[in-house]
Amino acid sequence: MVISNSLAIHGGPPVNPLGPPSWPPRDDDVQRAMAQLAQDGSWGRYHGPHVTELERRLADLHQVPHALTCSSGTIAVELALRGLKIGTGDEVILAGYDFSGNFRCIEAVGAVPVLVDIDPTNWCLDAQTIAEAVSPLTRAIVVSHLHGGSADMRTLSAVAAERGIRVVEDACQVPGAVVQGRPAGTWGDIGVLSFGGSKLLTAGRGGALVTRQEDLFQRIKIYCERGNDAFPLSEMQAAILVPQTARLAERNAIRETRVRQLLDETAHLEALSPVVLPAAGDRASYYKVAWRYDGTRSGDWSRAEFLAAMQAEGVAMDVGFRGFLRRSSRRCRQASTLEHAQNAVDQTILLHHPVLLEAAESISQITEALKKVLTFAAANPFAG
Ligand SMILES: Cc1ncc(COP(=O)(O)O)c(C=O)c1O
Repeated sequence: MVISNSLAIHGGPPVNPLGPPSWPPRDDDVQRAMAQLAQDGSWGRYHGPHVTELERRLADLHQVPHALTCSSGTIAVELALRGLKIGTGDEVILAGYDFSGNFRCIEAVGAVPVLVDIDPTNWCLDAQTIAEAVSPLTRAIVVSHLHGGSADMRTLSAVAAERGIRVVEDACQVPGAVVQGRPAGTWGDIGVLSFGGSKLLTAGRGGALVTRQEDLFQRIKIYCERGNDAFPLSEMQAAILVPQTARLAERNAIRETRVRQLLDETAHLEALSPVVLPAAGDRASYYKVAWRYDGTRSGDWSRAEFLAAMQAEGVAMDVGFRGFLRRSSRRCRQASTLEHAQNAVDQTILLHHPVLLEAAESISQITEALKKVLTFAAANPFAG
């Protein structure tokens, strides 16, 4: 059966007729920062107080002595690897399902990605796979907290430390999260943040590194210095990020409340297996909310058909990453079965975060849309 996006086929008007809300929000304090930049001309300077202030705030937020801003989360991962002196011939462990740029960053420094599986409940690198992936060439692990889930950093750090392996902790999707009692990004030797256009802290572009290690911090600074900063964040970007850092905890708490509501309201929907909620005492940070979609439990609709129907309802849902399972063995080594990574590639559906700052009724509208589409699918099964 070919599914059209016409409203009639889903029975009635879309549940959320306003469509996805815009991002970023029109915050007064961000607008004031922009007006101030225009007034005092600091937007046109190479160096000024805003980058310094942002780096101080990021260091405070992560309870570390050093934060360094840069031009993107992607370049931050590469700088982290360079700072750790990872290079030609080294191996770096990476989940088979992750942001594609992380694979490229490992290649960019001349190293070889070694792929391991993920934990299907949190979409993150499974710490239990590391031991079997390690070879004499293994020098580092790049581990990302994805889709509202968080990696088991306590186990991962212990295994890495035992073997003298360094850890780059990618917190691009989870600024302000608390993972196993520590700020996300501070379990590893170095943590990475993104300020890309859709991110929870945004300047359109931008990134940062956080670390406790003075020598690592200095090496990266020196690497960036080419007579001027080679990968800088501008004063303008920093000025609009500063007020956002002050709102982050409050907004993360609202998003977490909304996600709890959504997962509670949708718990009975058998076609959907959601990301696990944070453990007691921890805090999640939701850039995306993930589920695995099992079409066999809803009329055998494909993921694409299901997502098209949800989008027609006005809900900002999409697929996840494409993963690295098809990368040639000349470019990487596969160190474990990648069964869960493959499932994540095939089955992940993601809700984009802006709606999580809306009122509780918007969350119930999403629940209604999910129920409506799944009920319709069950009543109109795919005929083959
Ligand atoms: C897990 C992860 N790492 C790194 C990045 C890269 O960040 P940027 O877009 O700032 O380069 C992203 C971007 O979505 C991401 O999701």
